[in-house]
Amino acid sequence: MPKITINIDNAKPFICDEELASIQKDILKIHDQIKKGEGAGSSFLGWLNTPSTTEYKLIEKINNTAEFIKDNSDIFISIGIGGSYLGAKAAIEFANHSFFNNLSQVDRNRPEIYFAGQNISSDYLSDLIDIIGNKRICINVISKSGTTLEPAVTFRILKELVEKRHGKDEAKKRIIVTTDKEKGALKKLAVEKGYTTFEIPDDVGGRFSVLTPVGLIPIAVSGINIEELINGASVYEKLTSDGNFQSNPASLYCAVRNLLYRKGKSTEILSSFHPSLHFLAEWWKQLAGESEGKNKSGIFPASVDFTTDLHSMGQWIQDGQRTIFETFLLINKSNREVKIPYLEDDQDGLNYIVGKSLDYVNDKAYKGTADAHKTGGVPNMSIILEDRSPNTLGQIFYFFEKAIAVSGYLQKVNPFDQPGVEFYKKNMFSLLGKPGA
Ligand code: PA5
Repeated sequence: MPKITINIDNAKPFICDEELASIQKDILKIHDQIKKGEGAGSSFLGWLNTPSTTEYKLIEKINNTAEFIKDNSDIFISIGIGGSYLGAKAAIEFANHSFFNNLSQVDRNRPEIYFAGQNISSDYLSDLIDIIGNKRICINVISKSGTTLEPAVTFRILKELVEKRHGKDEAKKRIIVTTDKEKGALKKLAVEKGYTTFEIPDDVGGRFSVLTPVGLIPIAVSGINIEELINGASVYEKLTSDGNFQSNPASLYCAVRNLLYRKGKSTEILSSFHPSLHFLAEWWKQLAGESEGKNKSGIFPASVDFTTDLHSMGQWIQDGQRTIFETFLLINKSNREVKIPYLEDDQDGLNYIVGKSLDYVNDKAYKGTADAHKTGGVPNMSIILEDRSPNTLGQIFYFFEKAIAVSGYLQKVNPFDQPGVEFYKKNMFSLLGKPGA
């Protein structure tokens, strides 16, 4: 069952029906092109049918690996960067307890989960090593290319730690590798050492890989039902196979953001009212930014966490340069309810909302904000997720993947490459004196 709805009422004053009808035609053409496997970067369309083609035996292997990790470690570290990091981080924050690592071992019933290799900070890694202390540890190193510097350096350090802690033989069971099926230094090492290895399909790029073992292993370790996640994504795989706005909210989202972009609204702010969405927004920023930011064009993806950021960025959004539009990402049903208690003397003056839930207040904050921003000249739309279930999460992952891929084609770029990312690497490697750089 679809668990995402979209509301574009606050964007309508900024676009007209003729424009929507015209872009609908272009989007339908792009859908046809994608179906035929044509267009720039078409050898990276494997993510399109990942949900419907994921075999049960892969889910079983991942669940067995997660079970081994759960039974044999107190700390699990996922090592990766970009697409090899953000999807799992987003999922774990979306569906789990807000203070997952701080729960008691009994309540969590899982290892603590940390991420590394997403930066080159010696303080971050040293502090993480402090946290590991004498605890039992398993690590999952994730890199499609198997050559990315940040995770490679981190893996070198943490591999040594695992080997010292558990012995070289035992370490082999505690190191899980997710990489290309044949290329890269990591693959070579995994074969040599006999690590449990998972493959990243050739035709799935990093930022589209959350529903492959890249994301699924850490997600499963955290206790999220990955079969349900894939089921949810399958719902959207079917629903978005047709680009029609009536039946496909991802298509409508794609249309509205591109129409606004064409009118000079060059920054999209993904605004959420739930802290569990913070990293989903980070994942989306990579997906959109790396897919569209090419040839000196593309929508700049930004994000804010409300109501927190209403007390910082709120001023700019309400009154700053009118080059922005906003997409609210909302959760309809929280996992738990907190109600405002009665206070006899009403010292804080809050008795007018006594008995109301925090969600009720949050919803009013959203409605007030959406309206204020529209009045201030910021077109906005809302994407509403039914709940924080793995199924809904699978749906929104696929929703954004499809919308952004189509959006890239509308902007006439290859959504699946990232040539710009190579520039810093070239400079860095040459400064480091890498042979051949
Ligand atoms: O989307 C992408 O392809 C990139 O962001 C990669 O995910 C990121 O650079 C990490 O690459 P790798 O998995 O090869 O280490």
